[in-house]
Amino acid sequence: MGGRIRSAAAEPTAPHQDDGGGGAGSDGGAPGRAPRSGGGTDAAAGGGGAAPVRRPSAGRPPAGDAAGGGAQQAGAAQGHEAGGGWGQDGAAQGLAPHQPVLLEAALAFLAPRRGGRYVDGTVGGGGHAAALLAAVGGDAQLLAIDRDPQALAVARRRLAPFGDRVHLVHGDFRDLERHLASLGWDRVDGILLDLGVSSMQLDDPSRGFSYQEEGPLDMRMDPGQPLTAADLVNTASRDQLARWLAEYGEERWAGRIADFIVEARRRRPITTTTELVEIVKAAIPARARRRGGHPARRTFQALRIAVNDELRGLEGFLRAAAQRLRPGGRLVVIAFHSLEDRAVKRAFRDLAAGEGFRLLTRKPVTPGEEEVRRNPRSRSAKLRALQRLAAGPAPAGGEPRTGAGARASPCDATR
Ligand SMILES: C[S@@+](CC[C@H](N)C(=O)[O-])C[C@H]1O[C@@H](n2cnc3c(N)ncnc32)[C@H](O)[C@@H]1O
Repeated sequence: MGGRIRSAAAEPTAPHQDDGGGGAGSDGGAPGRAPRSGGGTDAAAGGGGAAPVRRPSAGRPPAGDAAGGGAQQAGAAQGHEAGGGWGQDGAAQGLAPHQPVLLEAALAFLAPRRGGRYVDGTVGGGGHAAALLAAVGGDAQLLAIDRDPQALAVARRRLAPFGDRVHLVHGDFRDLERHLASLGWDRVDGILLDLGVSSMQLDDPSRGFSYQEEGPLDMRMDPGQPLTAADLVNTASRDQLARWLAEYGEERWAGRIADFIVEARRRRPITTTTELVEIVKAAIPARARRRGGHPARRTFQALRIAVNDELRGLEGFLRAAAQRLRPGGRLVVIAFHSLEDRAVKRAFRDLAAGEGFRLLTRKPVTPGEEEVRRNPRSRSAKLRALQRLAAGPAPAGGEPRTGAGARASPCDATR
């Protein structure tokens, strides 16, 4: 099954084209809004008895890993650069590669071990996934999920050298239970979520995420999903639009922009990104437009979150996903939006307040200046990590109990 994409949703659509500009990315686009230096951690390697992590050396798998065979090795046969490079899709179309954010920290907190089972719930172009598999070597396996069939196609090529160790699934990570069951997996050693959109999605005008390029007002991560941004913009009530803009976009001019959208769509439906950009520009007073980056950035971000229902059930999902960790297993989440990060923080805090889990990050880990300089889109990233504690003595007739003694950690002070 290695590398085969199993569809839990719709089929892939045509590949994207072209280069693009800014898009409905993270909420950190505004200069100076996000902290840039790392927060306190209790280490990357702290506890849990995981094997030491081999540094990802540009994500290249060791030579032996490229040998996995079978029909699913097509990417390698086509000359795909194993692990370290961008997939053929991105390169061929002149798109900038998606640079995995906080890569070293993510790997250090996951602390992958040989023979372990891992989940990348947002595999995207496979940057984190390739580095994880390369770092751990051996026979560790990865369940790699994404809602976007185009991203999965890139990931499939990029991860082809790892052969049967990779199980690609087209679907929503919130259906994790079902995806695990399809592999016959009960517990796993690590789960990674790198939330939001990829550069591949943002930079492709035909996907409609970009406010700097003309394109259809689409913004669906999964093109098989019926609802597009144009549907929302042309049918949602004025108040609903204003709420999304205020809540998901933290847009100060939410009410005015909603009014202008409603006025514009009375004349004719709004169907392209540039039409929406012009409406937003007209709604925001000129003086305010000169501050805080592109005037349409927050509107595009809000609509993207609404179209893809990105915040639905995130907190509950994290609580449930943590229960699927083996003793010592880790859950690592990178969020790019304050609402996302708040959900992660609450879920982790509640889990760590009970029995059986501990926080590995006292404060979120954020990219250093060098990473932000290299990859400005990383600026608003916040990584949090949680660990399931090692099992204690099993109570008679029940699940193994987690050992309270193992909770002693520098993070205890924060609970
Ligand atoms: C920031 S990118 C991940 C990039 C990836 N870590 C890499 O290194 O290439 C986020 C990806 O998550 C996917 N995604 C977002 N929400 C999802 C969900 N609920 N279920 C599955 N995939 C999701 C998006 O389609 C996108 O490809």
